[in-house]
Amino acid sequence: MNPSPIGVFDSGLGGLSVLREIRALLPHESLLYLADSRYAPYGEKPERFVEARTLQVCEWLVAQGCKALVIACNTATMHAVQTLRETLPLPIIGVEPGLKPAAAASRSKVVGVLATANTLRSAKFNRLLTSLEGESRYLCAPGLDLVARIEQGDVSGPEVRARLDTLLTPMLDAGADTLVLGCTHYPFLSDTIRAMVGNRLSLVDTGSAIARQLARKLAEHDLAAEHDLAAAPDTVPQDRYASTRDAAHLRAMAATLLNVDTLAETVVIEPAPPL
Ligand code: DGL
Repeated sequence: MNPSPIGVFDSGLGGLSVLREIRALLPHESLLYLADSRYAPYGEKPERFVEARTLQVCEWLVAQGCKALVIACNTATMHAVQTLRETLPLPIIGVEPGLKPAAAASRSKVVGVLATANTLRSAKFNRLLTSLEGESRYLCAPGLDLVARIEQGDVSGPEVRARLDTLLTPMLDAGADTLVLGCTHYPFLSDTIRAMVGNRLSLVDTGSAIARQLARKLAEHDLAAEHDLAAAPDTVPQDRYASTRDAAHLRAMAATLLNVDTLAETVVIEPAPPL
């Protein structure tokens, strides 16, 4: 049994959508969530910054004693997961847009993909797209200011709805019946999207698949925690929530987005690599 925490990292609040799935699947594990909100969004930053900053914050998570890392950010995974795996001595689970499950789910074989601009132009994403040619037609669009709005806690306001309308209408007009939420912030828009498009689009996000992949990796590396919660309820793991910008905001957002009442801390991970 290994009680060390699992590090869950995102540029900001989006990774909370992945943390929610991990918490549900692995109640024995303790989690350390790090939101690099001081430098969010990553989706429009230079690629070399995303790579270097991701390595820097992951080194911080390792120094906190994490036994495994979940890069709960598509953008950071696309640009940094290879470097992380070459550099850090622990299991690293990344995320990528769910193009394959979307193709399997789609009847029209027209799939919309919303992701950050950086994800869409990355070599890793384009290799994935090419490998799936023929399975479906993918209509990819960058989510533009959606991440910034979610960071402010806005998941359903008029600007968010207007932006979604601009992005989704051409996809629907082209026959899409499935939408990939290719950024971990976007699952927080699910209710708004469903209210707008009804059942015309099935939504695909990979949070629960990531949680299952993490469980497999922990078992493979003999790293799982095995508290007996029934026999010793006091051993319920305490999660840590950390932000590089504003702990109070992270705490408020965890309450709003996850319905979790938690303490949070502001941490300093500096100097950041040059922009
Ligand atoms: N949540 C992130 C993702 O999955 C990145 C958002 C951003 O910082 O632009 O891509």
